[in-house]
Amino acid sequence: MTYIIAIDGPSGSGKSTISQILAEKLNIEYLNTGLMYRAVTKYFLDKGYGEKTEDKILKKLLDEITIDFKENNLFLNGCDVTKDLRTDEVTANVSWVSARDYVREKMVDLQRKIAENTSFILDGRDIGSVVFPNAKYKFYLTASALTRAKRRYDQGESEMTVEEIEKSIIKRDNYDSNRKVSPLKVAEGAIIVDSSDLNIKQTVEKILSYMEKSDVL
Ligand code: DC
Repeated sequence: MTYIIAIDGPSGSGKSTISQILAEKLNIEYLNTGLMYRAVTKYFLDKGYGEKTEDKILKKLLDEITIDFKENNLFLNGCDVTKDLRTDEVTANVSWVSARDYVREKMVDLQRKIAENTSFILDGRDIGSVVFPNAKYKFYLTASALTRAKRRYDQGESEMTVEEIEKSIIKRDNYDSNRKVSPLKVAEGAIIVDSSDLNIKQTVEKILSYMEKSDVL
């Protein structure tokens, strides 16, 4: 029997690190859905379009996009762009892109297809609420905005200070939580895990301890 684990939560809550470790421990596949929205954002920006562009044009661009994964690397129209998806420019634009219903529709279809017949852990914002509402396990991973900003800073991929990152995180949280389509929220039946005072190992252990109470392990 295959099963799905949904890990949702705001940016910088450690979802991707924790999900990767869990996938390895449980010997199941991992899908980072945030990367997919980032790839679409990169494509729009590379073509010279932005938030003010008409939906008609963006829809046409979206039709040109194919997204594939190989060993957790994302291939956009056949090219590995994984390393270009966490730039400040993509990060600053991904919220408006992921708020477009037609973008979400294509990404959600793809996510369901990828995880169709295999056990998967998926991380994102709407996995437990929209993509796989019947997931066997649902977690909502969170942490304070400052903790999350420090973690992003320590990753060394941003040119900004901790304070600037914190501000941009709060802005993105507001945008993601208040958008009309699939807003970031705690899915029905999800267990909330606050990792502000937990390191990676402790967070993984906490999640596993919830799962050990059931029949997967
Ligand atoms: O997890 P992340 O920070 O890489 O996600 C980038 C953006 O994509 C984030 O601002 C919200 C959006 N996103 C989404 O709307 N739905 C998902 N399932 C995953 C990410």
